[in-house]
Amino acid sequence: MEPAVHVRGKVALVTGAAKGIGAACATLLAEQGAAVLVADVDAVAGREVAGRIAAAGGRAEFLSLDVTREADWVRAIDTALARFGGLDVLVNNAGIAIVRTLLETTLDEWRRVHAVNVEGVFLGTKHAVEVMRPGGRCGRGGSIVNLSSVGGMIGAEGLSAYCSTKGAVRLFTKSVAIECGRARWGIRVNSVHPGNTDTPMFRQELEDMRAKGAVASVEEAMQFYMDMQVLPEIGQPRDIATMVLYLASDAARFVTGAEFVVDGGLTAQ
Ligand SMILES: NC(=O)c1ccc[n+]([C@@H]2O[C@H](COP(=O)([O-])OP(=O)(O)OC[C@H]3O[C@@H](n4cnc5c(N)ncnc54)[C@H](O)[C@@H]3O)[C@@H](O)[C@H]2O)c1
Repeated sequence: MEPAVHVRGKVALVTGAAKGIGAACATLLAEQGAAVLVADVDAVAGREVAGRIAAAGGRAEFLSLDVTREADWVRAIDTALARFGGLDVLVNNAGIAIVRTLLETTLDEWRRVHAVNVEGVFLGTKHAVEVMRPGGRCGRGGSIVNLSSVGGMIGAEGLSAYCSTKGAVRLFTKSVAIECGRARWGIRVNSVHPGNTDTPMFRQELEDMRAKGAVASVEEAMQFYMDMQVLPEIGQPRDIATMVLYLASDAARFVTGAEFVVDGGLTAQ
């Protein structure tokens, strides 16, 4: 019997797919039947991810993409159409975090984190909607999943620029979902809000805490983050990817403009 949640026959593009949550999304989407473009600025790690997926019998190719560059997006969409014959799923996952207090944050840092986390999501969504909508070059509708954060729902000390970007992604997602739904384009748009998830980005935060002397060790930093939550473990990239898979699949056909928290209970309190 057909599993309820799969993405067979779909073409997916995942940004920031060389590591962490993006790599887990690309891998799980490919395992569940999608042809996947593994898009990232890190070509070495990105090629490794695509190679691992292909070695396991999946369909994946690496694509060099800087989400802040519109010309890269034009090329990325052309590649999806030329190599895999369409685009059904876009996962706007690429993101960066700069940990600084307000007074430490420079205008350049503020702009950089907004360029990647907000402008990147805007550009990707715009170019994907253009090809997915009826009359577009693919034209069969689709699902767009934007990676926000629990930092898009509650504030966090030392992360004002980051939280600003993730709050923007949350409401951008809902607005585009309304436009696409009302236009009857068959395009759903949702946001996913991970909590503490064990990725290179998260490990860097632990290391920064130790380097600043806020904690004595990385293990103590890990415990600090665990104590914020209800469940007694840090999330794994696959936990987030499982939610992304659901939203990408037709099982989520009635789901749009919604926010999905995967945070071990962090924001329940
Ligand atoms: N790890 C967490 O605890 C956590 C929590 C909440 C939200 N998130 C969000 O999930 C997403 C993935 O986070 P992660 O922890 O896996 O991050 P990560 O740093 O481990 O991996 C991010 C990937 O994005 C790529 N990237 C960075 N800038 C890019 C650009 N301009 N264009 C294309 N690719 C680029 C990097 O090369 C890297 O491969 C991010 O949007 C992040 O904000 C993560």
